[in-house]
Amino acid sequence: MPRTSFLPLLGGRLLMVLLAVLTAVIFVLDTITNFEIAVAVLYVAIVLIAVQHLGRRQVVMVAAGCMALTMLSFALTRTGSVASGLVNCAISLVAIAVTTTLALRAAAAEAAAREAQAQLAHITRVTMLGELTASIAHELNQPLAAIVLNGNAALRWLAGQPANLDEANKAAERIVRDAVRATDLIKRLRGLTKKAAGKAVRLDLNQTVTETLPLIQNEVSRHRAVLRTELADALPRVHADPVQVQQVILNLIVNALEAMKGEPQREVTVLTALGQPGEVLVSIHDSGRGLAAAQPDQIFDPFYTTKPDGMGMGLAISRSIVESHGGRIWAQAGVPRGSTFTFSLPAARERQ
Ligand SMILES: Nc1ncnc2c1ncn2[C@@H]1O[C@H](COP(=O)(O)OP(=O)(O)OP(=O)(O)O)[C@@H](O)[C@H]1O
Ligand SMILES: [Mg+2]
Repeated sequence: MPRTSFLPLLGGRLLMVLLAVLTAVIFVLDTITNFEIAVAVLYVAIVLIAVQHLGRRQVVMVAAGCMALTMLSFALTRTGSVASGLVNCAISLVAIAVTTTLALRAAAAEAAAREAQAQLAHITRVTMLGELTASIAHELNQPLAAIVLNGNAALRWLAGQPANLDEANKAAERIVRDAVRATDLIKRLRGLTKKAAGKAVRLDLNQTVTETLPLIQNEVSRHRAVLRTELADALPRVHADPVQVQQVILNLIVNALEAMKGEPQREVTVLTALGQPGEVLVSIHDSGRGLAAAQPDQIFDPFYTTKPDGMGMGLAISRSIVESHGGRIWAQAGVPRGSTFTFSLPAARERQ
């Protein structure tokens, strides 16, 4: 059976109802038990759940509400020693305040770390691209300049009266030689990027997906989208570099979010499945505007973009990563709408 999770839905109405019921139960217990029993300390659980799913201001409001209810229970309780009640009430209030402060600080630190990680992924890509572009430009500049020079020379020899065919011929030969040099350089560069696969390890793709989603959760919330997973059980492991696989998943989810801008329904599903024998698949399905009929062939080309601020490198880099691991990547029209991007990675051989 596939495991399904609805991460952002937990932040919704269901969670609010759960919190309200828990709060009411604690309030009633705190009020009907005598002063010696500090039930109100349990409000820290409410605060801890709230920190996981709500914003900073809402958490502070929840904590303030819990503190107000603690004092109200103290005022309403009729049994037990008032002195013990006062001490227990104070302990509960301090516990709620301290827990709220510490939990909010921890949540802020975690959010900052995630942000930094997401930025790092972006910077790595931009840096890689910058370095690659600079080296291509540098290496190609020489043969291209020579081609222009010899082309001009050949034109001059041909334009002479009479035309000097011998010299024109020599210039044309130099043009061919430099063009071959440029082609060799490009071949070498392509080989270089193909070999750039990082440190490959035995990888559980379900785990990689699960660890990648928190990195993009902020972006998903910003697009007011829902991110779901459907992870197949008992998948064979693959042999791949986890950071590069994460990069591919992130690229595909970012594209999915961008394709759903302005759409009434914004839902991204990340699925894992068995593919052909010896092959594991990861699919990212979105409910976006979908691909134009002519697009699928071009979208993986470097610098192909339909976005005003796009670089057109996300899919090209993803394809280069997947192919360097011996896999494939392709796009299909989504059912019933949107599009589905799938990549495969070869399953690792089982250990003897
Ligand atoms: N999920 C999708 N739905 C519809 N179109 C898509 C989707 N993913 C990619 N595309 C199309 O493919 C093009 C290329 O995508 P790619 O990720 O390579 O570049 P980009 O997103 O435009 O820019 P960037 O380099 O910043 O990622 C996009 O501009 C878009 O037209
Ligand atoms: Mg992109």
